[in-house]
Amino acid sequence: MNILLLGSGGRESAFAWKISQSEECEQLFIAPGNAGTQAYGQNVDISATDFNAIKSFCIEQDINMVVVGPEDPLVKGIVDFFADDEEIEHIAVIGPSKKGAELEGSKDFSKRFMQRHNIPTAAYETFTKDELEKGLAYLDNHTLPIVLKADGLAAGKGVLICENREEAKNELRLMLAEAKFGEASQKVVVEEFLSGIELSVFVLFDNFNYLILPEAKDYKRIGESDTGLNTGGMGSISPVPFANSAFMEKVEDRIIIPTVEGLIEEEIDYRGFIFIGLMNVNGEPFVIEYNVRMGDPETESVVPRIENDLVDLFLAVAESRLNEKKMITDPRHAATVMLVAGGYPGEYEKGKEITSLENIEYTHVFHAGTKVLDGKVVSNGGRVIAVTSLDIDKEEALRRSNQYAEQIQFEGKYFRRDIGKDLSV
Ligand code: AMP
Ligand code: GLY
Repeated sequence: MNILLLGSGGRESAFAWKISQSEECEQLFIAPGNAGTQAYGQNVDISATDFNAIKSFCIEQDINMVVVGPEDPLVKGIVDFFADDEEIEHIAVIGPSKKGAELEGSKDFSKRFMQRHNIPTAAYETFTKDELEKGLAYLDNHTLPIVLKADGLAAGKGVLICENREEAKNELRLMLAEAKFGEASQKVVVEEFLSGIELSVFVLFDNFNYLILPEAKDYKRIGESDTGLNTGGMGSISPVPFANSAFMEKVEDRIIIPTVEGLIEEEIDYRGFIFIGLMNVNGEPFVIEYNVRMGDPETESVVPRIENDLVDLFLAVAESRLNEKKMITDPRHAATVMLVAGGYPGEYEKGKEITSLENIEYTHVFHAGTKVLDGKVVSNGGRVIAVTSLDIDKEEALRRSNQYAEQIQFEGKYFRRDIGKDLSV
């Protein structure tokens, strides 16, 4: 099979690495990819949201399957774009329809979906631009802290946790009346704060059957001990110690099953990943959010633990045969440490040469924001490289990832040295 993978981050590097090992894969193309994905396939200079260019490329190269990494093309309707076009409708696209992608594309849609299907989540109210006064009054009686969420996609910046009512009112005003996040904040979800430990659960769904992937924990804050600004994710571990079978049973019964049954009942076409962001509140799981793709950097910890042929699983997704498959998981611990550009998640510079990538053993170096410039590998984003080690001993996996994170060099490099440490026994 010829496969086109869309995206350019660490998640796509991990996917490309895994897909390239598949017996089913003849040729792998990555659009646009990064300096690292070239080791696993051929990069193509096409944006992941340029549907017409993607279509032409698929026809030219006789592509059989498109794997969608990021949410943007999904929320913009790439699955429907392929399904509605005779020339490319035969190509399997791994991802939900536009309607399904609303689970991530609209927080209000996803909250209403959870409410309809009795899925545990934080209590909430949604306010539109015309309901600012009502929203402000609602804040008067809200417990603290108050969580405000822009309804639409806001590049991971649309969630605010306000410690006092004045701040919450001010932010609600900025979001609704002054379009702080543009279109995305025309509606705002005001939500109860959940206190607990977060966890990312991943499911593959084929419109009928589901398969649960290894879970992971993401470290979102820039600073050690979970301080400072939120980022796309500074590291991850898999498995997650507290996600024992009793907890995961609750997740499956109360969240995964009602979610897939809800999708079936509402006839939402969904053949792809469901990423459930959960909060463990005293042993009880609550949904923080749905995403309609894999997580980044969770993928860099999760994919190396999957022993199945990933393309074989994707084919089963496309043909609604997931019931024939079993997840085969490597029991080792995976630890991913993300190297980021100095200044990230605020302003940062690109184009820094990356060196000391040699002599790395028993550890994956998944490129994220990198590109080749004049024969050199240089940084090309905030999150630059994900380093993943696996070991039967979690501490050893963490030690190796930290060692190589230290070794790899570029000007301004920063990484968290405490990934996974909070959950050590
Ligand atoms: P999201 O963009 O929905 O993933 O939210 C970003 C982050 O905000 C989450 O990863 C949580 O750490 C935090 N968050 C979101 N909603 C809540 C909530 N209801 N209670 C506590 N923290 C939350
Ligand atoms: N690591 C969180 C995300 O991919 O959204």
